[in-house]
Amino acid sequence: MNTAQFISKETKRIVEKVSFTWQTPSNIALVKYWGKSNPQMPKNASISFTLNNCHTITTIDFVYKHNSAFNSESKTVDFDLFFEGEKKEEFKPKIAEFFKRIQEYCPYIFDYKMIINSENSFPHSSGIASSASGLSAIAMCLMSLEAELNPDLSVENSNKKASFLARLGSGSASRSVEGPLVVWGNHPEIEGSSDLFGVQFPYKVHAVFENYQDAILLVDKGEKQVSSTIGHNLMHEHPYAENRFKQANDNLGKISEILQNGDVKAFVNLVESEALTLHAMMLTSNPYFILMKPNTLEIINKIWEYRNENESNICFTLDAGANVHILYPKNEKEKVNQFIENKLSKYCQNNQYIFDSVGFGAKKM
Ligand code: DP6
Repeated sequence: MNTAQFISKETKRIVEKVSFTWQTPSNIALVKYWGKSNPQMPKNASISFTLNNCHTITTIDFVYKHNSAFNSESKTVDFDLFFEGEKKEEFKPKIAEFFKRIQEYCPYIFDYKMIINSENSFPHSSGIASSASGLSAIAMCLMSLEAELNPDLSVENSNKKASFLARLGSGSASRSVEGPLVVWGNHPEIEGSSDLFGVQFPYKVHAVFENYQDAILLVDKGEKQVSSTIGHNLMHEHPYAENRFKQANDNLGKISEILQNGDVKAFVNLVESEALTLHAMMLTSNPYFILMKPNTLEIINKIWEYRNENESNICFTLDAGANVHILYPKNEKEKVNQFIENKLSKYCQNNQYIFDSVGFGAKKM
């Protein structure tokens, strides 16, 4: 694997004080990443829709430190972290670990004091993972600084490296730089795909999948019952792991065809099967976990009823938690949104749900 390409070029340039703001999206996987090896290498390829409304906005103020030689020797990265205006010491260890993993590729982080200000568009502790959008936002800000230090860095290489860096923080974050569909993980049928970074789905997508809708039903807003670190680790000794990784790669080949030929029925079948398989992996690991709640099942049954009665193409997918993402084509938007408001919102915690749709990736503010 050629990771040397991501080591920033040495530069004598100094920027005394600069500030960048990026808005980066959350994403929802259609074929799931679950299982990894060091350093953040996926056991199978995955693909996700980039979201539009669920995002993080992060500003980093970089201030050059004239005494930074000391910092790079002692290997400390100097940063403050604010979330929604408040200093958050408890979020710092995860970001410090992220900086440690990327310091080889971005040695300039020792030269600056970084003040990181971050906010999410979705409610705090809504059960929507903020690591994908959060880490890709930091990666984009770092790449903006790198572009100042190395002005010949192309946008394409900058996005590729941002995804590479984000991946080292959180695997799914590698899929939160571009859009509308991103593949992460080396796959024989996806040209240019890599375990090191996400790439835009490289083939023409059928019109039915343009502007796809995603309604996120917040069933359980509590702390994640299983952190993704623990969850991924459970795949190491898992009796079904090897078959699962093979199935996911087979499914990626299939969904690539489906996205091109517009077979929505096949899409529905594959996406729901992926979601249930992800949960099946956790039901059958040791220790074992049930991550659905009673209302998750209520919603799934109502979706199936609605689909049969209305000849609809709605389907659901799940992350490693109880919330339900409902996916549907744009031409069903009005009817499905009403169905959600009238029939499904009562299964959500505090009646909370978010209407979102497919988006196009990171935006510089
Ligand atoms: C279930 O990306 O959160 O959402 O690499 O440990 O940070 P880490 O894991 P993370 O795992 C996401 C798993 C998933 C499926 C997916 O998004 O593909």
